[in-house]
Amino acid sequence: MYLMKDITRDGNPVLRKRAAEVSFPLSDEDQQLAKEMMKYLEVSQDPELCEKYKLRAGVGLAAPQVGVSKQMAAVLVPSPDEDGEPLFKDVIINPVIVSESVQYGALTEGEGCLSVDKDVPGYVPRHDRITLRYQDVNGKTHKVRLKHYPAIVCQHEIDHLHGVLFYDHINKENPFEAPADTVMIS
Ligand code: CO
Repeated sequence: MYLMKDITRDGNPVLRKRAAEVSFPLSDEDQQLAKEMMKYLEVSQDPELCEKYKLRAGVGLAAPQVGVSKQMAAVLVPSPDEDGEPLFKDVIINPVIVSESVQYGALTEGEGCLSVDKDVPGYVPRHDRITLRYQDVNGKTHKVRLKHYPAIVCQHEIDHLHGVLFYDHINKENPFEAPADTVMIS
């Protein structure tokens, strides 16, 4: 199981590389990677286990964050109500945003990242709604429409596959400035 010591941190060149496309059927190694990345998210979202293993809770983890430069990311956005179905849960492979809303969305609290130890305050403007195409671990292609928080999380993870970190998007002069019609997501 991945622990915080396995997570690559800002400054590691793997986080700035464009990750390679993944081919199917997945190798045993890639299947293991997918499984372990999702496992990290599941364990990190369990308050007791999170504490026990000294993890930082996460809703997304991309392969470059465990040192593997491949287009694969685990996403687990829990339900807002206790015991509900997750809003989104899958390992997204070779993901592509096929369409996006003109309207922006941003988290009121800003964003964080398991690979970035310092707090970087500011809004991270992203597309409020996206259509995402990706392959799952079985090679099946999915096309899903996402809005608000799950859309933000997937854009953050896809950025990791392109060597981009969340703070790259923060306006340096006015970190809390966002276009007037930005959907603020809390
Ligand atoms: Co991140």
